[in-house]
Amino acid sequence: MITSKLGDAIGLEINDLDVTKISDKETINKISDLLSEFSVVVIRNQNITDDEHIKFSENFGTLELTKVGTDGSGSKLIILRNFDENGNIVSPTDRQRLNNLANQEWHSDSSFKKIPSKMSILSAKMIPSLGGNTEFLSMRASYNALPQELKLKIDDKICWHDYSHGRSKIDPNLVTPEEKQALPPVKQKLVLSDNKHGKSLYLGAHCRNVDGMSENDSNALLAEINSYIDTEKFIYSHVWEPFDLIMWDNRAVLHRATPIKGKIEKRLMVRTTVAGQTSTTNEC
Ligand SMILES: [Fe+2]
Repeated sequence: MITSKLGDAIGLEINDLDVTKISDKETINKISDLLSEFSVVVIRNQNITDDEHIKFSENFGTLELTKVGTDGSGSKLIILRNFDENGNIVSPTDRQRLNNLANQEWHSDSSFKKIPSKMSILSAKMIPSLGGNTEFLSMRASYNALPQELKLKIDDKICWHDYSHGRSKIDPNLVTPEEKQALPPVKQKLVLSDNKHGKSLYLGAHCRNVDGMSENDSNALLAEINSYIDTEKFIYSHVWEPFDLIMWDNRAVLHRATPIKGKIEKRLMVRTTVAGQTSTTNEC
């Protein structure tokens, strides 16, 4: 497999792969190992159908079914787009656009689920000429950058992750009662240690507060942690090309979309999400 490194802390490009032609377990294991080590894997020129996307993704585990209130609900695909079924760009106040805005906050997909996802696999179908990048932030490098006493202080901490929390910052009415009921807050470890390449922080927009601490103390602790996260050094920012396929480890990076610049052009991405096998708190 021919590969090249992307960011300083994370990111690897595989240069000689057609994901529709993989038939052996060895190649899948190799990709899994590369993802585990580099957290983000980019495979260019994969003009794949939705079925091929699903088939490739299922090599890595069971796929999550898309939650209520999201385009693709009930299927194995999440459709991320900024236009309606007639091809018209939706208005800035449209729910779809507001959800896209929420995706511009650092987050980990599905951290609001009791068993959060293992990885996401995103395929670019239509991309704007300028902006609309996806940025990835290494949570392993972020953990390593913390002073020793802070590491000791947070190693056993548990946080509450709540889908409504992040979305409410964009618009208090963005989360529907149906979504609220389907997605109650869940507990997640603040520091994950199950990766053989080291510990990582588990934070992001869905992280509401540290369990067992007052609101002030919790906010202060999260702010202290964030003050050590270098959002320049620990980032890989991906400029999309059509038919790029990107896989990322949701338990080792946060990600966010950047705004589209200039005239708003259509953006269409399709994602699968590979479910994790265990909760982070070992409560299941
Ligand atoms: Fe996301």
